[in-house]
Amino acid sequence: MSNFLVPHLQELLGKAKQLPAVNQIELTPFLQRRETRALCAQHGIVVEAYSPLTHGQRLDHPVVQEIARRTGRSVAQVLLRWGVQHGLVVLPKSTKPARIAENGALFDFALDDRAMSDLDALEEGLVTGWDPAEQV
Ligand SMILES: NC(=O)c1ccc[n+]([C@@H]2O[C@H](COP(=O)([O-])OP(=O)(O)OC[C@H]3O[C@@H](n4cnc5c(N)ncnc54)[C@H](OP(=O)(O)O)[C@@H]3O)[C@@H](O)[C@H]2O)c1
Repeated sequence: MSNFLVPHLQELLGKAKQLPAVNQIELTPFLQRRETRALCAQHGIVVEAYSPLTHGQRLDHPVVQEIARRTGRSVAQVLLRWGVQHGLVVLPKSTKPARIAENGALFDFALDDRAMSDLDALEEGLVTGWDPAEQV
């Protein structure tokens, strides 16, 4: 399923005999959907992060750029690895083969605790696409 936030999930949980395996929602350090993630975790639903590169809107953010510089990886890889380390499936999109490869090269490095907490502090409710919170 896609774009299910807490109220949508609660409605579903009250009725469904079988729960969905995956919930695809927009999710980045700038839009963390913590309550939705917690509810999904409680019910064994995998969270898949769409638009995990903020649709390009925060690739120039100074905190993310500094972490990229420190870790020797790209800004995109930092944002995606943050999701991986939070147990998310990340779903980036690129039209460029080199970037597609870059976006998949996430499993030969790790962000340290400082980088993770710096990224965790970036919440700003940034919705770059359609906001399912408006459909309750
Ligand atoms: N379920 C839903 O309601 C829903 C809603 C929105 C999106 N999605 C899905 O989520 C996926 C990705 O979302 P998205 O395309 O909206 O956003 P995104 O992956 O956050 O961002 C895509 C943008 O980032 C650029 N980009 C990709 N890799 C990059 C890199 N390594 N370095 C710099 N720039 C990079 C792309 O440009 P280039 O192409 O030029 O590289 C493109 O402009 C898609 O498959 C989409 O279908 C689902």
